[in-house]
Amino acid sequence: MNTAAAFADFRRYPLISALSVVTPLADRVQVTWADGRVSPFHHAWLRDNCPCPQCVYSVTREQVLEIVDVPADLAPDVTRIDSEGCLCVDWQDGHQSRFDPGWLRAHAYDDQSRAERLAGKPRRQLWRHDLPIPVFDYPALMNDSDALLQWLLAVRDIGLTQVRGVPTEPGSLKSIAQRISFIRESNFGVLFNVQSKADADSNAYTAFNLPLHSDLPTRELQPGLQFLHCLVNDADGGESIFVDGFAIAETLRQEDPDAFAALCEIPVEFRNKDRHSDYRCLAPIIALDTLGQVSEIRMANFLRGPFDTSVEQMPRLYQAYRRFIALTREPRFRVMQRLEPGQLWCFDNRRTLHARNAFDPATGARHFQGCYVDRDELLSRILVLRR
Ligand code: OGA
Ligand code: ZN
Ligand code: ZN
Repeated sequence: MNTAAAFADFRRYPLISALSVVTPLADRVQVTWADGRVSPFHHAWLRDNCPCPQCVYSVTREQVLEIVDVPADLAPDVTRIDSEGCLCVDWQDGHQSRFDPGWLRAHAYDDQSRAERLAGKPRRQLWRHDLPIPVFDYPALMNDSDALLQWLLAVRDIGLTQVRGVPTEPGSLKSIAQRISFIRESNFGVLFNVQSKADADSNAYTAFNLPLHSDLPTRELQPGLQFLHCLVNDADGGESIFVDGFAIAETLRQEDPDAFAALCEIPVEFRNKDRHSDYRCLAPIIALDTLGQVSEIRMANFLRGPFDTSVEQMPRLYQAYRRFIALTREPRFRVMQRLEPGQLWCFDNRRTLHARNAFDPATGARHFQGCYVDRDELLSRILVLRR
């Protein structure tokens, strides 16, 4: 059998340990690996994951078998390890399956293997005011896939990066964002221009200070990554400020658990409206994942609608909101730096809140361009670069 097609994936699964013993049990096959680990695989699981060309279309490497189409009590007749070290199962109905040991180990679901996978998951690194901001070099990112990978890992795990040496031609942001993948267009364009405008359709397009916020909290799915590219910055002021929203949420959880709970539970509406569009999203400010970890912050005071919660909950919500904003203003969390022409920020918009100080348009021009890329694109590019 062609090993490359021996599993339903485009990745490679290195051999971690060879299969050494196969023990058939009533409802499962128990495998003992050369390093001593014992991994049970239920009959249904093995049949469901058969990688043969009848069960998986070899072109797409997607499954065509539906497990409901085989009897629930289907069991193996014979199980053995073949000369290439693969697990072979001859089923009672005549079907034959063959499992690559690297693939099988990578998907084993004994407690130890699952704990190992969890420990190997990317660890986000929470940061405060003293973060050494990871800085990357534009020509390297455009030409070297390893430099690209290192940048994307920093975006994923730290959520704030700077790139230097970017051309200051308008539109040049596009090519570096596309090193990741598709740009996410919005009502502000594929690229948006951050400039003080008389007919501004957002406070972002004035010279006002912008308090710490995420962009597009008005959408069901906030953009995962945000880029801000400086073309011109001759005006006094306008420094960029960042905080790690996850670090602030975790601090709130410790220092004021009820405020934390209120921000996880009570939905708040964010709105963005102009003459042609009207976007509104009702969601809590802090979102948690299935493990109870903070997975997203949604915040922009200037886009917030009036709070709408019960009479009993209203004071609790205001108190929690104040506590959160007060934390974002504490120097221990804030990183401040002025962006110069040819530099850009790339950060996790669902985690890292950003702000800018007011600037004085009378002292000179200021022109940034920005765009968004979804988090899925980042994660996919990282996996492809690692193949
Ligand atoms: C924005 C924004 C920051 C800046 O446009 O949403 O946050 O420095 N701009 O102008
Ligand atoms: Zn099959
Ligand atoms: Zn913004």
